[in-house]
Formats: sequence, C-alpha cells, structure tokens
Amino acid sequence: MNTEQDSKAKQALNLGKTFRDSKKLAVHGWYPYVEGFSASYVGTWLDRELTSSKTVYDPFGGSGTVQLEASRRGIKSFYSEINPFMAFVADTKVNAARIVTGKPGKLERAAKNFVSTLNASTFAKHAQRVDLTAYNSAFPKRDFFAERDIRQLLAARDLAVEVAEGNSAIEAILTCACAANAVKSSNMTRRADLRRRRPDEYKLRVVDVPAFVVGSVERMVMDVLQMVRDGDLGKMVETKYASEDCRLLPQTYSEAFDFAITSPPYLNGTNYFRNTKIELWLLGFIKTERELPTFTSQAIAGGINNISLSKALSFTASSVEEAARELDEHAPDKRIPKMIRQYFSDMYEVFQAVYRGLKPGGRFVLDVGDSKFYGVHVPTDKLLAETAAAAGLALEERTVIARRYSRDRSPLIQAELVFRKA
Ligand SMILES: C[S@@+](CC[C@H](N)C(=O)[O-])C[C@H]1O[C@@H](n2cnc3c(N)ncnc32)[C@H](O)[C@@H]1O
Repeated sequence: MNTEQDSKAKQALNLGKTFRDSKKLAVHGWYPYVEGFSASYVGTWLDRELTSSKTVYDPFGGSGTVQLEASRRGIKSFYSEINPFMAFVADTKVNAARIVTGKPGKLERAAKNFVSTLNASTFAKHAQRVDLTAYNSAFPKRDFFAERDIRQLLAARDLAVEVAEGNSAIEAILTCACAANAVKSSNMTRRADLRRRRPDEYKLRVVDVPAFVVGSVERMVMDVLQMVRDGDLGKMVETKYASEDCRLLPQTYSEAFDFAITSPPYLNGTNYFRNTKIELWLLGFIKTERELPTFTSQAIAGGINNISLSKALSFTASSVEEAARELDEHAPDKRIPKMIRQYFSDMYEVFQAVYRGLKPGGRFVLDVGDSKFYGVHVPTDKLLAETAAAAGLALEERTVIARRYSRDRSPLIQAELVFRKA
C-alpha cells in the first residue's frame, strides 16, 4: 500500500506529539531533550507491534524514549547513538534506573547526603575554591557562565561522584541531575539551537545551581520510588547500546530485531553536538570544544555547517537528484544542494543497516518532516521512501501526523512512514 491518509485513523494514536509531552512523565524528563520523541506515541506503537515481549531497535536513540518505553513493557531494546552524552542519558534512564530500583535505599541515602551538602551554607564557600583551569581551556573566552555558577556546577558534579562511593548507577543518576541543569545555570538557552540568552529574555530569572540540582535529584528519587511502588522492578528490561554510528551496526545484530522505530535527524536540523557541548564537557566526554567537529563529521549530514563539499556519495535516488538540481540552480549557497545529496546518501546507509538488523517481515517506523530552501520544496518523506526502497524496505503506509510552517510561512508537514522488510 502506498496511500496517504490524513490523520483520522491515527488521531487515536496521539500522533504529532513531541518531547514536550514526555517532559513531565516519570524518568522521561530526567534530561530536557527538545529533540526527543513523544513517549505516548512510541508506547502506542510498541503495544501494537510487540504483543509478546520481543525486541526493538532505535537507530537514533537520543535521550532514550524508545528504550525506556520498551523496558517498562518488558521488551528488550537496542539503540545506536553517536553523541556519547545522549547515550549516557539513555543508559541512565533505563539501566541505572533499573539497577537502583532493586535497592532504592542505597539511592535514597546517597541522594540525602548529596542534597544536605548542596543545601549547607558551607557549599558556596567550598565552591569558591573550585579550579576553573579545565573550563577556561575547554571554552576559551566564552563566558558561558557567571563565575560563581560554573564553580558551583563543577562542585556539585564532583560531589555527586564522591557521595556515590563507586556505585556507578547512583553516580550516573546524580551526575545526570547536574548535567540536566547545566544550560539552565548558564548564560545560554536552548531554543532548538544552543545560543546566548538575549538581555530581554528571562529577566526575572535567578540562577541557583544547588537548588536546581536538588530539585532534579528529588524528582529522580521520587520517580524511582514510584517505580518500586508500581512493581516495575522485575518487569524492567535492560537496553543495549548496539553501536555509536547506526550505519555501522555490527553483524552480530543481523536479523536480531522484530521492530524498529525512530525519529531521525531532520534535514537542516539542529547540530546535536554543538547543542550539548556544555554537557559533553561537564561529564568528561570532550576536553575542549575543538573536538566537536570530529563528532559532527560522523553524524548524519543534517546542517549546512557540517557539510564537506568533497565527501563522496554512496547513493542517490532520481527524485533526490531532481530536487538537488533545482537547488543547484536556485540556491546561492552551494552547500544546500550538497547537504541534500549527502543527507539522503547517509540515510540510504541507515536504511541498509536497519534492513540488516530487522527480522524478515519486521517493520521500521520513521517520523520525519519536509523542508523548503530558497522556495524549493524538498519532500523529505517521499524522497526517503524512494531511498528506503532501494535498500529493500517497502513503504507500507504514509500518514501526515502534523502540519508545520517553514520560515517563509509556507505549509510543511510531519509524516509517519511505515516500512516493512520483505
Ligand atoms: C531526533 S534525535 C532522536 C531523539 C530520540 N528519538 C529521543 O526520543 O530522544 C536524533 C539523534 O540522532 C543522533 N545521530 C545523528 N547521527 C547519527 C548516527 N550516524 N548514528 C547514530 N545516531 C546519530 C543524534 O545525536 C540525535 O541524538
């Protein structure tokens, strides 16, 4: 079937939702990831596809929405994620949460110790002595934080490690609470992209790093205790990190997954590494922001700033070439047509990897949006369908799940594509 159905049948599935809906849900909101999936959307698909507990894969695992929803249903999940900080968040929300649920008293004691030290008057004095050499060499002349706030954030992170006393699940949860408040404690804001706050934004905002971190930790402990009360322990299944780059999914996962679901990077979307550079540094995944391009070059070509004009293409569909040629003509910035060719070529490799990982008959669900550049409409969903077909994944269903608008106010869509491995 290759039909476009306008939402009707899908209304009941709560489609067209985003991470905003998941933020308040237990555990999902441990880290505010604006690019995240809607948990209820993912849950509906899992209930439908995996009636008896089997396996699911998310090639772009992000903050772990698919993994957590699967885990709670007793479904084993696998994921790829190129950003090590996001892989850490997903691992914390599923695997660390699962471990501490077994012995919640340990987490409660460490959290109590952490919170009382953060709340003590001596904390601010102690933080004044924190060394900023590593911060200054990571982000020279960047002024991301008021000096008091970065010192307190670093002191909180070090304290998290100390009170965890080598228990890696507890350490992950407490350091995740620090990372979740890094941008909130800074002079920056993340509105899709990470940028400096304007003077007229958040005028009344007061930065109180210890209070921010305490708020997160208290919420995390409450969530864990709720999971214990709900009897999640015993039900929760771990999630497994299959690979960094999903295109390099190891052969051991050939025909391992019953189902795959994802929200891929969007064409000309956000730069996932620049957006999380503070957290990547805070938790030791990078030493300096000069390392970011190495990561970005391994990600799916999403934005014009990370397009290499010389990189070879592994595939191009005729409809992709048609759109790119139109842009060769109309776009003053030649990186745009190059980005389009590169994005679909990269996505072809993703489809090949997912095809390999799926069992015969397995479905792959993707949630994507189209784009418009210099007046040229790029129907990403249709071009992806052609690209996927070349990799052996046939389109079963295409559904418009939300209406959006481009910068010039012309209408765009968000579509759900359902593929099936023959
Ligand atoms: C739209 S987000 C996924 C959000 C996720 N569904 C969630 O709920 O948090 C896309 C993710 O793809 C990751 N990514 C980009 N290129 C990748 C690649 N080649 N392999 C694996 N992950 C990649 C990005 O780091 C980003 O976290």
